[in-house]
Amino acid sequence: MNKPLAAISGASAGIGSVFAHKLAAQGYDLLLIARRRDRLDQLAAELERAHRIQVESCAADLSVVEEMDRIAARLAAEPRLDLLVNNAGFGAKGRFYEAPLDEQLKMHRLHISAILRLTHAALGPMVTRGRGAIINVASVAGFARSPGSVSYCATKAWVNAFTEGLYLDLKSARSPVVVQALCPGFTYSEFHDVVGIDRSSIPKSFWMSADDVVDASLAGLRRRKLFVVPGWKNKLVVALVNRIPERLRLVLESASPHSRARLPKQGNPG
Ligand SMILES: NC(=O)c1ccc[n+]([C@@H]2O[C@H](COP(=O)([O-])OP(=O)(O)OC[C@H]3O[C@@H](n4cnc5c(N)ncnc54)[C@H](OP(=O)(O)O)[C@@H]3O)[C@@H](O)[C@H]2O)c1
Repeated sequence: MNKPLAAISGASAGIGSVFAHKLAAQGYDLLLIARRRDRLDQLAAELERAHRIQVESCAADLSVVEEMDRIAARLAAEPRLDLLVNNAGFGAKGRFYEAPLDEQLKMHRLHISAILRLTHAALGPMVTRGRGAIINVASVAGFARSPGSVSYCATKAWVNAFTEGLYLDLKSARSPVVVQALCPGFTYSEFHDVVGIDRSSIPKSFWMSADDVVDASLAGLRRRKLFVVPGWKNKLVVALVNRIPERLRLVLESASPHSRARLPKQGNPG
């Protein structure tokens, strides 16, 4: 019998590779997407051996329009697509007006255009088939702002708003297709190495493992939860920023560990 297929972007590392391991263990065939083909091929071989599933590596830079279109066409043509995890992403540091514009445009293409494009390709056929799910990886940062992280927070806020909009669309159509915005806080992965943020600048008690983050997401999926915020501390942060008055929120946002990690003490670009 044909197995259901899960497509995961950003599967070559961190949270995406943990999704790949856990979905493989659940019996999904996998389509793994990221730029580093060697990493994807290695993971594919490992998962095929361990779980008797089929795993395809799709090397693509999803911040490049032609490549996101190529992957979108691949997803639209896949009748077994049961789960799409839009997870690929990266961080940046430095004040908006001092940080390179190219990097920020690239972030907007990856965090917004690629998610929009891949979701559009996957969701119509899922609704027609009357089954399927999409997990969009946002962040706790999508609920708040932080100096030195303007584009990151803004694009993740878009992911939250986009996913909530999809939820309402699907509800109004009485579709059983599920959407989830996964909003992790600080998570051990390659993310902070890529940005060049020293993890020790952020208190240890804030950190979670990618394993726990993905477990929370998959448990939330079973319960059809729209927003999944893993860990009680992250839940508390989100509850606070959603409830406190704007002036107090701005004070807390200025003092967040995020901003301390992302900005030099003086006004020069870091
Ligand atoms: N770690 C955290 O603290 C944290 C917190 C909240 C939210 N998140 C979110 O979680 C998601 C996963 O991040 P992570 O923590 O697992 O980081 P990670 O370990 O750095 O993994 C990022 C993944 O995204 C892929 N990627 C990056 N740019 C890409 C591009 N242009 N095209 C295709 N793939 C690309 C990378 O693969 P290649 O380099 O091979 O392309 C890698 O597989 C991101 O959306 C991130 O914003 C992370």
